[in-house]
Amino acid sequence: MIKKNALRTLWYSLSSNQRFLIRKLYYFPVDFYDRLTGNYHKYVPPRGYIYTGSPANYEDYIDQGKHQLGLLKSEIDLKPNDCVLDVGSGIGRTAIALTTYLDTSARYEGFDVVELGVEWCDSKIKKDFPNFNFKYIPLFNDLYNNANLKAKEFIFPYEKNYFDKIFSFSVFTHMQIDEIQKYFSEIQKVLKPNGIAFSTFFLYDDTTENQTQINKEFTFSKKKDGYSLMSDKVKSANIAIHKDKLKTMLEFENLTLVKIIDGFWKGNQENKIEYQDIVIFKKKS
Ligand SMILES: C[S@@+](CC[C@H](N)C(=O)[O-])C[C@H]1O[C@@H](n2cnc3c(N)ncnc32)[C@H](O)[C@@H]1O
Repeated sequence: MIKKNALRTLWYSLSSNQRFLIRKLYYFPVDFYDRLTGNYHKYVPPRGYIYTGSPANYEDYIDQGKHQLGLLKSEIDLKPNDCVLDVGSGIGRTAIALTTYLDTSARYEGFDVVELGVEWCDSKIKKDFPNFNFKYIPLFNDLYNNANLKAKEFIFPYEKNYFDKIFSFSVFTHMQIDEIQKYFSEIQKVLKPNGIAFSTFFLYDDTTENQTQINKEFTFSKKKDGYSLMSDKVKSANIAIHKDKLKTMLEFENLTLVKIIDGFWKGNQENKIEYQDIVIFKKKS
C-alpha cells in the first residue's frame, strides 16, 4: 500500500507532458495490438490517451460513461432534450454515453484544460453529433496544464441562464478552493433559474475527518483551513473539502444545496452508488 503511495508521489512529480508521453509509450503495444485486431470503438480513445483516470479497454470505458449517465438520470433527472454543460469534459467518457441518450434537440457543451482530450472529442464525437461542442480552455492546473491563464479568473463562455443541467465528474477534486468558488459563481450565471447541478467531490466532516487519513494509498495529509490536500507539491493532485466549507461556498453564490450522497472512497461500500461524494445543488428561481 505504502509502495502505491510512493509511486503516486513519483508520478505526480513528473510534468504533465512527461506523464502524457510515458502513458502513450507504456500502452503503445496493447493499443497497437487492439488496432490490428479491430478491438476498439471509434469514439473511445486508445488507453495511452486516457489521462483522466485508470486507462480502460473500450468496453470498460463505455461502461464507466454509462454509469455516469445513469447517475445523471437518477439524481438530476437528465432529460433527452436537456441543454447541458460538462465542466472538465476530459476525453469524452461522459459525452460518449450522452450521445446515446440526448436527442437532436438537446445541446451538449463541454470544456477542458487539456487540448488532447478536446481534440479527440472534436474529431471523433462532434463529427457525428453536431449538437455536441467541445472547447479547449488553456487554464493553469499543476496536474494537467502549465498554461498562464488562471481558473479563478475564468469567465464561462456561454450565455446567462442557458443550461438546464450542469455536471462535473472528478473535476472539483482537482481544483483549488478559490477556483472552485469562481466556478460556482460561473455556474450560478449560466444555469437557468431552477436549473440543477451535479458535481463530485471528496468531502469529510468532523466525524469522518480521520477517515481521510486511513487509506494509506489515498491520504489527504496536508491540512488547510476547511480542506486538505494530498500533496503540497502538486496542489491539484487531489483535494478533500469539509462539508461545512462547501456549504458556505455554495451559499455565498446563492446556490441551494439539494443533497450530498456519500461515496465509498473513505471506506464502507455498502449501499453506495459512486466512489466520490456527489453534491447536487440548484439555482434559485
Ligand atoms: C479526472 S479527469 C475527469 C474528466 C471527465 N470529467 C471524466 O469523468 O472522464 C479531471 C478533468 O478535469 C479537467 N480540469 C482540471 N482543471 C480544470 C479547470 N480549471 N476547468 C476545466 N477542467 C479542468 C482535467 O483536464 C481533466 O480532464
